[in-house]
Order: sequence, then structure tokens, then C-alpha cells
Amino acid sequence: MHILVLHGPNLNLLGLREPGIYGHQTLADVDRLIESMAESLRVTVDIHQSNHEGVLIDHIHAARTRCQGLLINPGAYTHTSLALRDAIAGVGLPTVEVHLSNIHSREAFRHQSWIAPVAIGQISGFGPESYRLGFLGLVNYLRLPQP
Ligand code: DQA
Repeated sequence: MHILVLHGPNLNLLGLREPGIYGHQTLADVDRLIESMAESLRVTVDIHQSNHEGVLIDHIHAARTRCQGLLINPGAYTHTSLALRDAIAGVGLPTVEVHLSNIHSREAFRHQSWIAPVAIGQISGFGPESYRLGFLGLVNYLRLPQP
């Protein structure tokens, strides 16, 4: 089983960026966590970060035939990008949306996700642990017999 993991805009600044909200762990730390999860669950991963909507969409399109699922932290595109939502709906890959912070307890403009309606689930508010929980949820979902 092969999983695409995408980090959206500004997540390359993790560790430096608003540490009171996003913590002190870097994106490399998060990637190590995902890689060790993948190893223990015996799945393989492709991990990418981009600050560009179109690049994220290109990765999603390329995953259509290469991957079985998508784990994505769309960053601020969560709240703005119909194009990202359409890409996920278009390829039909089971998708889990994750956020480090609890988007529902923050500013009102973060409460709406354009991605959530095309995702199988959303994990929000557990810091880097959101990725671990989301990854586990996605792999378990993919291992269940599909109706
Ligand atoms: C975020 C939450 C978004 O609202 C924000 O724009 C981000 C990070 C999170 O992981 O908590 O860039 O996706």
C-alpha cells in the first residue's frame, strides 16, 4: 500500500512559525514521525510540501494511479481552495484531512473546511500527533473490506 502525504503552505516554517499555536517541532520531525508510522504499518509513503496550490493539485493528480490514499494538511488552502477540493474529489482517493491546531476553536474563518466534505475524516488539534492519528485512521480504513 502506497500513501501520498501532502503538507500545504507555510508548513515548511514549522518550528519557527507561531510556536504558541503550532509548537516547536519542525516539518522534518513530523516527516520522521510519519515515516516511522509507515514502517511499523508496513506501508510506503511519498511526502511533499508546497506553498503552491497548483503543485499540490499536480501531486494529487499523479497519485491517482500510484497511491491508494491521501493524508493532507492543506494549511490555509483548507479554508479557500475549491480547486484542491475538486482535485481530491476528481481522483477519488480516500483522503484524511489533518491539522496541528484545532481549527474549530480558532478564528471563525478557520471553521469552514472546503476539504472536509470530500474527506473520509478530519483530525484537528493534536499537534504532530494529528498526523499519526490521521495516518492510522487512513491505513485502517484502506485495510477494511470495501463495500
Ligand atoms: C493548519 C490550520 C490552518 O488554519 C492554517 O492556515 C495552517 C495550519 C494547522 O495545521 O493547524 O496553515 O492547517
